[in-house]
Amino acid sequence: MPIIYHENSKEFHLYNNQISYIIKVLKNNQPGNIYFGKKVNDKESFGYLVKGKPRSMAACVFEDDPGFSLQHTMQEYPSYGTTDFRYPAFELKQENGSRITCFEYIGHSIYMGKKKLTGLPATYVEDEKEAYSLEIYLYDSVINMELTLCYTIFSDYPAIARNVRFLNKGDNTVILERAMSASIDLPDSDFELIHLSGAWARERHIKCRKLEQGIQGIYSMCGISSAEHNPFIALKRPTADEFTGEVYGFSLIYSGNHIAQVEVDTHDMTRVMMGIHPDTFEWPLCKGEAFQTPEVVMTYSDEGLNKMSQTYHSLYRKRLVRGQWRDRPRPILINNWEATGMNFTEEKILSIAKAGKELGIEMFVLDDGWFGKRNTDKSGLGDWHVTNFSKLPGGIARLADKINAMGLKFGLWFEPEMVNKDSDLYRAHPDWIIHTPGRRTSPSRNQYVLDFSRKEVVDYIYSVMEKLLSEVNISYIKWDMNRYITECYSVDKDEKSQGKVFHEYILGVYDLYDRLTSRFPHILFESCASGGARFDPGILYYAPQTWTSDNTDAIERLMIQYGTSMVYPISSMGAHISAVPNQQVGRVTPVETRANVAFFGVFGYELDITELTDEEKSKVKEQIEFYKAHRELILTGNFYRITSPFNSNVASWIIVSEDKSEAMAGYYKILNRANESFKRFKLVGLDPDKRYIINGTKQDEFYGDELMNIGIAIDDNELCCNGSDFSSIIFYLKEK
Ligand code: DGJ
Repeated sequence: MPIIYHENSKEFHLYNNQISYIIKVLKNNQPGNIYFGKKVNDKESFGYLVKGKPRSMAACVFEDDPGFSLQHTMQEYPSYGTTDFRYPAFELKQENGSRITCFEYIGHSIYMGKKKLTGLPATYVEDEKEAYSLEIYLYDSVINMELTLCYTIFSDYPAIARNVRFLNKGDNTVILERAMSASIDLPDSDFELIHLSGAWARERHIKCRKLEQGIQGIYSMCGISSAEHNPFIALKRPTADEFTGEVYGFSLIYSGNHIAQVEVDTHDMTRVMMGIHPDTFEWPLCKGEAFQTPEVVMTYSDEGLNKMSQTYHSLYRKRLVRGQWRDRPRPILINNWEATGMNFTEEKILSIAKAGKELGIEMFVLDDGWFGKRNTDKSGLGDWHVTNFSKLPGGIARLADKINAMGLKFGLWFEPEMVNKDSDLYRAHPDWIIHTPGRRTSPSRNQYVLDFSRKEVVDYIYSVMEKLLSEVNISYIKWDMNRYITECYSVDKDEKSQGKVFHEYILGVYDLYDRLTSRFPHILFESCASGGARFDPGILYYAPQTWTSDNTDAIERLMIQYGTSMVYPISSMGAHISAVPNQQVGRVTPVETRANVAFFGVFGYELDITELTDEEKSKVKEQIEFYKAHRELILTGNFYRITSPFNSNVASWIIVSEDKSEAMAGYYKILNRANESFKRFKLVGLDPDKRYIINGTKQDEFYGDELMNIGIAIDDNELCCNGSDFSSIIFYLKEK
């Protein structure tokens, strides 16, 4: 069993052949953190690592041990105010106004496999041997409350999943004001903090800064995980890079308000915690009630950032994403949004679909504008049926039939969580939106957020979507969410429950996803939030792919996709070719480079394909054939970042199949330069002894070690559009 409990030392050792995680029940009967990192041999005790020494001003736990102060002790799930003055992992306000607690160890259980989290997305196992779990039970006798710390170590991944459960067994109500999913103390602070920051159309840009004493971190209070800060951070050693060095990753499987906070104390100890943002959260727990936190997945890599990313890619692709589409090749789609916006007719839609089919596209997706009175963004949201028969004379059913008759799958856009005031739904239920009575409700894109913390609202949206999806042959849904939540308040709840609304809203979203994906398991869901504002692991549990960004410019996408790949697999990133000049940045990039970037994702088109020249159409046809031929490699291979577009004029990356028999590398030269020097492109991840043929450019054979140590000699003449900006090339390698 890769979780050992040493009775005498009261130490738990969770390990696999890559990592160790060691916990000790401390002398105050609370769990202390001993070690997280590369695997070490097991032994009875690592207790020597719990250091204590008397320090002036330090409050100590016991009168006869002036050296034992929680302020200087590494802990598993710390509280505030009982000798530790750092930020706590949780806070419970009791009826007498106190927040002081004392949760002590009362027992544990160790078992094979991993339990489900009720109502929440989480990683899973298909066979019990894939993981082992530990639950540590803690109890506060004054308030009669139980706290369970849950850990799962995966057998084949350097990863540990953690979550926490609170159970109030007492007679009095307590208020949970803070409930992190995980907290860990590291013994030093020689790290850089990596996080993914951004905004609409420039999501998940990589930021890196040295840790300093004090608080640093990222958060969202927008109601969803947000374009601003993805629920992920990593701590890397300053010398670590993509390929070498120690990196700790922390990824929260959650789509709502979150925080990841790193506190370095003045003795240079580092405390990392992650969970639901406490400032928008307050959860009363009455007698017998429990609260379950979302899950954090912590990873360790001693081979740099790529190894951390590959752990997340593989774990999330295989054991977070679920359903029929998890392992299936995803259809190449064409979406009409950038071609027509809301201004389309059935005839126009059919012409785009037909042209797409002729070029090999497999699915047509009808975006925003098909329902209710939806000709602008001022009306229609909430009325999920066709009323505008001048646009779609036979409704959605006839359109879907005609598209299916062409041999294409049909997909449809929804924005289930939203409503316009100009809609039948709002007129019937004005109190269904999130709003604070007596105060103005801020619009955003002229729309308002339905109160998904209310079951009746979710039930209603489910019933209308269920009806349409049962009547029409729909193979794919693009689930959009185009605004953040303001004036958060639910008129359905009393004043004591308003702190629950943000979390219950997300639980309502998960509930709707759960019901729809269970009822229609054949439908492929793609999530979206004005592009990638809700690209998080929570949503991936329900929707295997996410629209990465509204920014489809190939050069901007290099950064967005490079950053997104820090955590998320290539198979989760919607990546489409759009028209030039690009709608977001006005840049004109060659169609080859647009494809060479979009190939590294779930491929599709987002333009009026009927307007392409014959030459362009034949290029599109070739691109589609190329993607179809290689999509299994693209969607299941190991992805490595090689050169970062954030600090270089070149970006590059590679996908290598599990058995290393094939690979596909992308090389992008952003700006053209006069009188360029010769460049060598060193590949990674190949088998050094295999011989590879590189199609397209060279007919010679190359050993893997040659390609990785010497590199491909880049011949600028072979790059598409050599002599101008934004040139690129794809190297497809096949074992001879
Ligand atoms: C935002 C999405 O990101 C776009 O792709 C498109 O679906 C629009 N919403 C439609 O309103």
